[in-house]
Amino acid sequence: MAGWTAQARRNGHTIGFVPTMGALHEGHLDLVRRAKAAHAEVACSIFVNPLQFNNIEDLKHYPRQLDEDRALLHEAGCDVLFAPEKEAIFADFTPRTYDLGVLNDHWEGPSRPGHFQGVVNVVERLFHYVRPDEAFFGEKDRQQLALLRHIARQELWPVRVTPCPTVRAADGLALSSRNARLDAGQRREATILYKSLQRAAELAFRVPVATVEEAVRSILAQEPNVMLDYFGIADHDSLIPLQDWGEQDKAVALIAAQVGPVRLIDNLTLAR
Ligand code: PAJ
Repeated sequence: MAGWTAQARRNGHTIGFVPTMGALHEGHLDLVRRAKAAHAEVACSIFVNPLQFNNIEDLKHYPRQLDEDRALLHEAGCDVLFAPEKEAIFADFTPRTYDLGVLNDHWEGPSRPGHFQGVVNVVERLFHYVRPDEAFFGEKDRQQLALLRHIARQELWPVRVTPCPTVRAADGLALSSRNARLDAGQRREATILYKSLQRAAELAFRVPVATVEEAVRSILAQEPNVMLDYFGIADHDSLIPLQDWGEQDKAVALIAAQVGPVRLIDNLTLAR
């Protein structure tokens, strides 16, 4: 990877980077196309990072399809694929404990202990090898994005972290590699996540926060096979849960639920 990066730099090219765990879908490919629109050279990584899985079954079943992914990346305009072995990326490396601040205190933080430390550690390693000018991340993983922006600033990482909008299926379900494990019935039930977020967006800033949360819970009760982990409304930037709307003109609704064999997450910006 270092040779490719050095050559790109000698050619005076900037480097856009899209880190992924593979099983690529249109959400990932949209990030690659955005990177290619802004940079002469685009790298994508595929690495199923064991450090960020707090559930061994999830890691075991995480879909892997490297040949198909390679073809998709080529079509989307990616110039180089970085698919390191576990031993290579973590060679001579001891994971660090980062100060994640308040951004780890809610939502995915308590639900997936150690998850974000694993994410930040591997992203640091990926940046270390690829040395991108700009890295592209999806708003689909809102808390991950917020944390990486925070850490990039705190650690003075010389890379711009750029947010990209969530790509959804026609029925609203956010694309995710894990959706492949849903059967037809579960796939239909899963649309309740986005429906809930949309309901929250309709009610936001017009009725009290607690009333929105009640309305969403009653929508979710219609789908007994969808096991809610959390739903809540948070400050747009700090992701601290909101008790009332305050003066801000934006907020975010976040949801996580177990549907059949997979845990799905989604979120939506709420605007005045
Ligand atoms: P992964 O889940 O493969 O996602 C890779 C990138 O694609 C992330 O930035 C994610 O937010 C984005 N993405 C996923 N689904 C999306 C969608 N429907 N619309 C837009 N963007 C979407 O996130 C990870 O991998 C890992 O944690 C990683 C950052 C690679 C570190 O291991």
